[in-house]
Amino acid sequence: MTFMTLDQIEAAAEFLRPRLKVRPRIGLILGSGLNSLAESVEEAVYVPYPEIPHWPPSTVEGHVGRLVIGTLETQPVIVMQGRLHFYEGYSMSQVTFPIRVMQRLGIEILIVTNAAGAINPDFVPGDVMLITDHINLIGMGGANPLVGPNLDAFGLRFPDMSQAYDRQLQALARQVAAQENMLLREGVYVSLAGPSFETPAELRFLRLIGADAVGMSTVPEVIVARHGGTRVLGLSGISNKANLDGSTITSHVEVMEAGRILTPKIERLVRGVLRALK
Ligand code: HPA
Repeated sequence: MTFMTLDQIEAAAEFLRPRLKVRPRIGLILGSGLNSLAESVEEAVYVPYPEIPHWPPSTVEGHVGRLVIGTLETQPVIVMQGRLHFYEGYSMSQVTFPIRVMQRLGIEILIVTNAAGAINPDFVPGDVMLITDHINLIGMGGANPLVGPNLDAFGLRFPDMSQAYDRQLQALARQVAAQENMLLREGVYVSLAGPSFETPAELRFLRLIGADAVGMSTVPEVIVARHGGTRVLGLSGISNKANLDGSTITSHVEVMEAGRILTPKIERLVRGVLRALK
């Protein structure tokens, strides 16, 4: 297994520092189909992932694979246009390497977005769900991103996860949604390895254990963010209804298409939160 070291993290941060005009306060990860949000970044500097030392390149369709550094609502941000996934073959330590680099660059808050399947029967494609908690199903099976030598420079061997999603940031997101007259769903996100979608039996199991939305990302990044003391806001764009009775099929095309409806909604929420954080 590949464990990224503090030296590698520092080398990547060192490479990026001269490209920053100000210390970034916020890291923003854009999920499948939500890439175009990065086009809103002002005074943007683009850094393709392959240029960054030790940064594993993204391979999945719909993920551009670059950092966009600039400002959004006058807040200094680092935007990951495309993330790394476990199913691409990276170790969890590689998947979460960007979080470590952003932490070294000084971010205080991480905003994670993803495309997710709705397990909660009330949710429909196009809904946005505020993540209030997660079930790290993949991590409970052994693939926790903190497995391996503990990076003491960031945090404790056994970090608390009782409030993985920051309550104050959740409150802000609710406030913004209300101001924007936008329905904001709330719920528990469960992370699986992928890349195959779930069987109906697996989906019924996920419903039973208390999940509202299912996806193949986010949770590893959130755990590493919390390990390093970064506050987290999580938003799931509901791209499809999970198919608990086997009557419909799920496709990546569907997930990407929902992104077109979801991107402007998520942009309004993120912009509102950034404004409120001033
Ligand atoms: N399952 C898992 N991951 C997903 C889904 C889904 O239905 N939709 C988007 N990402």
